[in-house]
Amino acid sequence: MDRPTYNSVHWVLVAMPDVDPWNEDEVGRIQERMNRFGIEPLDDIEGILPDHRFVRRDILFGHRGMRPFLETLQEGGRTAAITGIMPSGEMHMGHKVVVDTVKMLQEAGAEVTLVVADVEAYNTREMSMEDARDLAVDQYLRNHVALGLDMDDTDFYFQSEAGNRHHVMSKKFSRYVTQNEFESTYGDASPAKVTSSFTQYADILRPQFDSPCPTTVPVGIDQDPHIRLTREVAHKYPADFHKPASLYNRFMRGLTGGKMSSSQPKSYISLTDSVEEAKQKIDDAKTGGQDSLEEHRRKGGDVSEDMVFELLAYHLVEDDAELERIRREYESGEMLSGELKRLQRAESRSSSLNTRERGRKRSRWSNRFSRNACSEGPCSLATPCPARNSMLIRRLPFP
Ligand code: TRP
Repeated sequence: MDRPTYNSVHWVLVAMPDVDPWNEDEVGRIQERMNRFGIEPLDDIEGILPDHRFVRRDILFGHRGMRPFLETLQEGGRTAAITGIMPSGEMHMGHKVVVDTVKMLQEAGAEVTLVVADVEAYNTREMSMEDARDLAVDQYLRNHVALGLDMDDTDFYFQSEAGNRHHVMSKKFSRYVTQNEFESTYGDASPAKVTSSFTQYADILRPQFDSPCPTTVPVGIDQDPHIRLTREVAHKYPADFHKPASLYNRFMRGLTGGKMSSSQPKSYISLTDSVEEAKQKIDDAKTGGQDSLEEHRRKGGDVSEDMVFELLAYHLVEDDAELERIRREYESGEMLSGELKRLQRAESRSSSLNTRERGRKRSRWSNRFSRNACSEGPCSLATPCPARNSMLIRRLPFP
């Protein structure tokens, strides 16, 4: 079984969606993916990556070509990180992994670009442009600000508004990809896939349109086909583009044990779930506890099958020693699943996911992009939007 153990926190995951950017259903294994597609492990660059719990806990597990990016970053040269989101549903703890990774790179000095793939959602998810935009503003944009991404220092755009140059570039790139290459990378070359892919190549190379620089794309491994072909295009296109690097994160499993999916509300905690909703979902979550108290005390819990532990490890416990203590106590049977769940709640209550400043910025940002102002008027920290009794807003430290 593919369960890396090169880390004291060895609860890491086994299941991965297969590599198809539009089909999240298939399940595969990380090691196979890495070997088959030549994704490099993090080992050789761990020392030059920013210190972050995702790095220490193997949540970021692989990359392509990160070394030049990191070296330039260390030297204080210009670097760019770009990622994109296709509106699909509520923003949840799985999405937060990518946001936190981008934030890590932004804090280390990389320029950040964030694209909302509204055209891709229109073409591949049959979503209306209006719905895609509303979801993007209401869910993604607000929460990116709330999670502390500095949006004033982020090049943020919608694909539908990327501009003529962007779309001309994406068309020009088609000269450098053959039908064969495309089909062997994506399985088939339906018009919607072709259009979405070429738009994404332009997204990824956009930070280099004016002046080339080392670039990286923090994403889930499902996006690797896009990375591979963008690297090809970057190499062949007659400009001095750097081949974009990539940094892959593990997917969090859903609370119910399967895949975390926007279409299964019980599988995730969304960033806008109310505290009550979140509590309920945690109560219903799959645990690694034993069937009876007596058995649990004797055998101990299994952290690798415990979705609450996974949440703690991904997001809620920053301190490694603390996480290690929890793991030890749970595995020894000293700590019960119920206690682990209560711990989670305490953690999420005290979690500093937010600050005053971010709350202020958040409403300013979402108001800027909203099609319709909220009927309740703009929310502010002092007057949280009554229409959204959300986790994040509740967690803000009110004066
Ligand atoms: N295809 C990505 C998704 O399904 C969204 C996306 C569009 C993207 N452009 C991008 C991701 C550029 C990374 C970089 O979520």
